[in-house]
Amino acid sequence: MIVLPPSEVTSGSGSDIITTGDKMLFDLKPKEDIKSFFDREEEINDLVDSIEKYPLTMVTGLRRIGKSSLVRTVIKDKRYQSVCLDGRAMYANSGGNIKKADLIQRLQNALSEFSNFEKFKVFLSNVRGISVKDLSLSMNWKEVDLLSLIEKIDKFSEKENNYAVFFFDEAQYLKYYGTKGGNDLLSLFSYMYDNSKFIKIIISGSEIGLLHDFLNVDDYKSPLYGRYIREISLNPFDKSTSISFLEKGFDEIKVKIDRENIRRAVEVLDGIPGYLVEFGNRYAQFKDLDMAIKSTFQGLSGMIEGEIKELERKSPRYVQTLAYISNGINTWSGLKNAFFAKGDTISDSRLYEILKNLEKMTWIKQERTGEKYEIIDNVLKEILKSGDE
Ligand SMILES: Nc1ncnc2c1ncn2[C@@H]1O[C@H](COP(=O)(O)OP(=O)(O)OP(=O)(O)O)[C@@H](O)[C@H]1O
Ligand SMILES: [Mg+2]
Repeated sequence: MIVLPPSEVTSGSGSDIITTGDKMLFDLKPKEDIKSFFDREEEINDLVDSIEKYPLTMVTGLRRIGKSSLVRTVIKDKRYQSVCLDGRAMYANSGGNIKKADLIQRLQNALSEFSNFEKFKVFLSNVRGISVKDLSLSMNWKEVDLLSLIEKIDKFSEKENNYAVFFFDEAQYLKYYGTKGGNDLLSLFSYMYDNSKFIKIIISGSEIGLLHDFLNVDDYKSPLYGRYIREISLNPFDKSTSISFLEKGFDEIKVKIDRENIRRAVEVLDGIPGYLVEFGNRYAQFKDLDMAIKSTFQGLSGMIEGEIKELERKSPRYVQTLAYISNGINTWSGLKNAFFAKGDTISDSRLYEILKNLEKMTWIKQERTGEKYEIIDNVLKEILKSGDE
């Protein structure tokens, strides 16, 4: 059995290993350069349009579909000033409770990288808790008043006639900010929404239902109540786009592959660019279709391992439910019977909650008839299926 974590594919030094470089479609990192970002013209235009017109944009789509790449590419191409914060990383690094100190630390790093830092630091010189020396910025998290800081960033951006984009990736994790389910951060968002003409917020994440739950715009008690959010949703590439993507990727790295093999790979992997990129790297290494596909699946199963562990921590029933559904036990009564047969007398309300949450995390959806559940992503379905063997 070949076990090959994704990192080994890019970090090795063998001659078949693809080294990262720009203009490479098969680079495993989120893209930032428009030349290496394939297709998606419409989504790029939509995002730019949204940034120009609306304070808050949400970018959604399945895991590995290209959400982070879309936002980063647009930020770079349009030369917006930006502050990029990853909710999942902040959650993990803060031991599950994101504090103001964590946020300030990230802000400090991001703001220090503003392209016009020399000019920007002048704007910050009289903000309490911030000291600027030469090219470095240091913030005392206890003293910094976030609203004053936001105001300064907005003023600076207005003067520069450029937007400052605050990109909160994997934003559903921001509900772990502070002690009020992330409400302090939502209040900050609503302040920015209402007052900052040149600051634009983009939030993104693959667990779409949880993202909506977090923003909670329909609840009058929520800080963002009633605010309009433009949603840009990324879909998988269709078959012919996926084929062109692989053809171009292999062309770039000068690896020969039959069109028939490309077609077969797309048949198995569908149109999620992240999966196609994984495949591209592995085919370049093995030059064998079956091995490359097998190794891609192994890499992807490593990728979701963390998420599965997280689900397991919430309740082993989540993972069990996913395993049942991927193996075809996908009706309400089928699931209930399967749990009972295992000696788990799960209540109706608990099963309902588990299914609802799995939907919100974009693992499953209900079929059109509403009677059956299915795993949304076919590749993950295969991985979950084999995991239960
Ligand atoms: N349109 C595209 N052109 C080229 N590469 C792409 C494209 N979309 C995504 N990729 C590649 O696919 C992989 C996943 O992309 P990215 O990280 O942007 O997706 P994501 O939706 O943010 O994923 P996650 O849900 O894991 O955060 C990366 O290797 C990225 O370079
Ligand atoms: Mg991402």
